[in-house]
Amino acid sequence: HEIDATQHNADKGEFKHYMLKEIYEQPDAVARTIEMALDNGETTKLRDDFLQRHEALLSGIRHVQVIACGTSYHAGMVAKYWFESLIRIPCSVEVASEFRYRNPVVVDNTLVICISQSGETADTLSALRDIQKQTPAGLVSLALCNVPTSSLVRETDIFLPTLAGPEIGVASTKAFTTQLVALILLILKVGVTQKRMTDEQLNTLLSELHQLPGQLYASLNLDGPIKTMSESFEDKKSCLFLGRGLQFPIALEGALKLKEISYIHAEGYAAGELKHGPLALVDKDMPIVVLAPKDSMFDKLKANMQEVHARHGELFVFASEASQMVAEDRLHLVYVPDVCETLAPIVYSVPVQLLSYHVAVMRGTDVDQPRNLAKSVTVE
Ligand code: G6P
Repeated sequence: HEIDATQHNADKGEFKHYMLKEIYEQPDAVARTIEMALDNGETTKLRDDFLQRHEALLSGIRHVQVIACGTSYHAGMVAKYWFESLIRIPCSVEVASEFRYRNPVVVDNTLVICISQSGETADTLSALRDIQKQTPAGLVSLALCNVPTSSLVRETDIFLPTLAGPEIGVASTKAFTTQLVALILLILKVGVTQKRMTDEQLNTLLSELHQLPGQLYASLNLDGPIKTMSESFEDKKSCLFLGRGLQFPIALEGALKLKEISYIHAEGYAAGELKHGPLALVDKDMPIVVLAPKDSMFDKLKANMQEVHARHGELFVFASEASQMVAEDRLHLVYVPDVCETLAPIVYSVPVQLLSYHVAVMRGTDVDQPRNLAKSVTVE
């Protein structure tokens, strides 16, 4: 199942790498995925045909268990925040390689969501099969997948597609953002079906979703400033990504992207955990990337940034203009387009992808086929 990027050279068009092309395809891919559930301009309801056949199954679920690997796991982490805060359904998320070997408890009426770009990841498939063997009452399985013909789709009750189109770059980009979009659509569907959402909440989120492709498009305009920023990373050995709340999984994803393609050691951390370890690493040589939208966690995050700055750390901050942050010595700033708190993780994915991309290009690595990694891991 490994994809040979050299076979697809013709499709790269004006772009130097598939990864860059796929980053730029995100506004369209996201718009397509949104259209599965939303008619143009409609803000009062979801499309009647969206997951309609599965309403009975979705109406009975009381818990969610997400299983995934790699970047898809980070999408699951965002979904956990959304499931619990928006519609109050408890949600657990775990990497498939751990879940499958620890004899986990799956309670009755669980929706198991397997997130996988390829639908062929061995650990994810095995974890699903193990749960199916346990046969808990009211089990519903769902594949959130980019490949409709995959094993994962064949073996689950519900198929929720990401309409990203083929993803060739080993480091996942448009599959990730479309996974996030599909997950929020699913949560809206469950919320409406189980009457866990007010009309007002629904209307607000639907109108925000309509704005998302435009916001993603605007965030691609940050390419120039981010390329400039990336010059500071070229000779670095190690890097920290910080976020809180919905941006914590994006910090993890940013760190994963950077290590995958630039081979710089990178760690994602929940900024509130700084004091419990990573603060000891802070010095002038370790860049610290911060995802700082003006959301409900911003003031706390700002205090975390001050802690780092006071210890001579160099900050590279992605923030909204509303944050009123200003660049200063050892604080580099790129403003990200304004976006509501709920959908911010989707928009803030773009700058961390671009940053990793430019750092990798500068270091001369094989961006589309990083050493030792495969697009799809079909063996254990
Ligand atoms: C590999 C890829 C990653 C991907 C992960 C999970 O590690 O390099 O980009 O996130 O597998 O793949 P899946 O197809 O299950 O999403």
